[in-house]
Amino acid sequence: MNFAVIGSGGREHSICYKLKQSTRIKKLICIPGNGGTQNIAKNIVEDISDFNAIYKIIKSENIDIVIVGPEQPLVEGLVDYLNKKKTRVFGPNKFSSQLEGSKAFMKNLCKNNNIPTASFGVFDKFDGASNFIQNLKVPIVVKADGLAAGKGVFICKTKEDALIKAKEILEGKFKSSNKVIIEEFLYGEELSYFIIVDENSYNFFGTAQDHKRVGEGDIGLNTGGMGAFSPAPFLTNKLEDKIKKKIIEPTLKAMKNLGEPYKGFLYVGLMIKDGEPYLIEYNIRMGDPECQVLMMRLETDLVEIIDCATRNKLSNLEIKWSEKKSITIVLCAKGYPSNYIRNSEIKNLEKIKLDKNNQIFHASTYKKDNKFYSNGGRVLNITSSSKNLIEARNKSLINIKKIDWVDGFFRKDIAWRAIDNK
Ligand code: AMP
Ligand code: GLY
Repeated sequence: MNFAVIGSGGREHSICYKLKQSTRIKKLICIPGNGGTQNIAKNIVEDISDFNAIYKIIKSENIDIVIVGPEQPLVEGLVDYLNKKKTRVFGPNKFSSQLEGSKAFMKNLCKNNNIPTASFGVFDKFDGASNFIQNLKVPIVVKADGLAAGKGVFICKTKEDALIKAKEILEGKFKSSNKVIIEEFLYGEELSYFIIVDENSYNFFGTAQDHKRVGEGDIGLNTGGMGAFSPAPFLTNKLEDKIKKKIIEPTLKAMKNLGEPYKGFLYVGLMIKDGEPYLIEYNIRMGDPECQVLMMRLETDLVEIIDCATRNKLSNLEIKWSEKKSITIVLCAKGYPSNYIRNSEIKNLEKIKLDKNNQIFHASTYKKDNKFYSNGGRVLNITSSSKNLIEARNKSLINIKKIDWVDGFFRKDIAWRAIDNK
């Protein structure tokens, strides 16, 4: 089969890596791709918000199935567009993508269907937001309604700060948002639970935890993710049953009742408190860098999985996962997540021996005259699997040390809670 993957991050590189292993893959293209996908797929550079241009590529390359990696084109309706053109595409449509694209939509869906989540209010005027904030205990969580590339959530230690953040959002700080969501702060342990969904059923698609803060010990500014590991250590059968019965199944049922059955990957972001799951967020795609660790542990043919999902035949399929633990460490450009260095040459990548337990997924690189250069803040994902997390982390650290890149930095402590609590 011929596949196209849309996107240019480490997530898309790891999806390409897994597709490429299938005996059923004939052609693989990545739009626009990066310096890493270039080695296993044909990169075609195009603006992924230009749906017509994407469609033309899909047609001329004879693509059978398209996988959309990032949230932006999903929220903007790429799946609807390609469906209309009779192209097979894996991912949620524009309506369903509101689960991530509008926090107000997601929270109201929870409220209407008794799905456990932090108590909240949605406001489009400052007075309402201000009254609500006065009646909450600190810390208070203030969120922009729409997509904000991970920058639209503020945990405010004082009411004054919450008022400032709410005002900024209502005054248009984020173009995608004219509403603000104010939430109670939930204490507990975070867990990312993934599923793959078609019109008839859904399958478990792994668990992971990521590290969002830039500094070791989880301090400092928020980032897109400095590393991740899988599986999440504390998921029990009992907890999993609650996640399905109290959160996932009521959500999928509610979407069906709205006449828009959900299809695609679904990332269920949870807070676990006293053994009870609360929904923090939905993402309508795989996580990045969570996808990278999950692809290392996935044993079932990904072509088969996506083929089944797009034919609504997931219920016939058993998806198998390795018992191994997997870690990815994100190598970033110095300065990230603030101003960072770009176009800096990265040397010695070829010195790392890649195999089924050691991979480097490129997050933002390009290749020119056979040399690799950085092209963004999160640049490479040094990913390893082993029988335990500490060994996996050590392997990634050994591989990172072989890379010659003076402008890079990384966290040495990915998975520290899981490792130190042992
Ligand atoms: P979101 O984009 O909604 O996932 O929020 C980003 C991060 O903020 C989450 O991964 C949590 O760490 C944190 N967060 C969001 N909402 C809450 C909440 N109600 N209580 C505690 N932490 C939260
Ligand atoms: N790593 C967090 C995300 O993909 O949203």
